[in-house]
Amino acid sequence: MSSPLIDDSSLPASLDAALRPSRWDEYVGQKQVKANVRIAIDAAKKRGGMPEHILFYGPPGVGKTTLANLVAATLESPLKSTSGVAIERAGDLAAILTNLEPNTVLFIDEIHRLSRKIEELLYPALESGHLDLVLGKGPSARTVELSLPPFTLIGATTRVAELSGPLRSRFGGGVYQLDFYNEGDLRDIIRRSALLLNLKAPEEVIERVAARSRATPRVANALLKRIRDFSEVHERTLSAALCDEACELFGIDAYGLTKDDRRYLETLLMSFRGGPAGVRALAAGLHEDPDTVEHIYEPYLLRLGFLERSSRGRILTQKGRAYLQGESNLF
Ligand SMILES: Nc1ncnc2c1ncn2[C@@H]1O[C@H](COP(=O)(O)OP(=O)(O)OP(=O)(O)O)[C@@H](O)[C@H]1O
Ligand SMILES: [Mg+2]
Repeated sequence: MSSPLIDDSSLPASLDAALRPSRWDEYVGQKQVKANVRIAIDAAKKRGGMPEHILFYGPPGVGKTTLANLVAATLESPLKSTSGVAIERAGDLAAILTNLEPNTVLFIDEIHRLSRKIEELLYPALESGHLDLVLGKGPSARTVELSLPPFTLIGATTRVAELSGPLRSRFGGGVYQLDFYNEGDLRDIIRRSALLLNLKAPEEVIERVAARSRATPRVANALLKRIRDFSEVHERTLSAALCDEACELFGIDAYGLTKDDRRYLETLLMSFRGGPAGVRALAAGLHEDPDTVEHIYEPYLLRLGFLERSSRGRILTQKGRAYLQGESNLF
């Protein structure tokens, strides 16, 4: 069986890794989160210990994993990465925790996926640095208490609501929301990525990519790379016109929306008269899983103000209607 631990050092140095910030000054935006986390780190360093456990939550691609890497690098700590899905049995967690080098940052991605049983095993490890293991079965079963080396847990999740209250309360170092990025921050990220990719990208290109990036750094970098590919294949320099052509081919419009997003909005308008519509009914209308609808489609549509959530369901806003009618300059 493969180990639930992912050893980051063995991953190939992909292009994605090349664009990932490795210093605080390269990590754009999220000012308040950065300031808070750095205080926790500096205080711990002064005391010669490790900071308390930290949780990052927010939509996919906004920099949770990157931040965990920065924390470990700043502490000069080894980083061990795993995921809530990979830790299935008590033995998996015990193997990870008992094998940690002292002062490791343990990163658990998708931490909301941990089972309740594993969560309960984790509590004493987080609070007092020990693990209660039950050995044997039936009347002869006994509990042994193992002390663990000092470590800091960094949890990450896109679904903070699914995290149990008790687990959430164990993050003494703070629970931080990473939010979507504003256009200025996105432009800074794209400018830096263009430089690293050796691209001559005029400001109009940076602006266009930023506007179509769904307020998300990962999307921004991916789109920049696709536009680079397009320009290389056509042997043309980067320009606003080239971006528009490329995006048209990719099916990405001026707001960064794809045909799936439009299908969502159209279904809400046509099949539900603009709502309110419950997420399950809407998902059924789209032949999609409600989870995908809620976590993949909706967050950015909400951010754009095309959609509202109410207690009775999803509602298409005036802006959303105007978008579907093809009005430009909605912002
Ligand atoms: N603040 C930032 N400044 C510059 N680049 C960033 C920033 N945040 C993220 N990125 C870029 O976006 C990519 C995706 O970020 P990351 O993998 O950290 O997101 P994530 O929140 O962990 O996503 P997921 O929820 O899917 O795991 C990174 O490789 C990095 O290149
Ligand atoms: Mg991540």
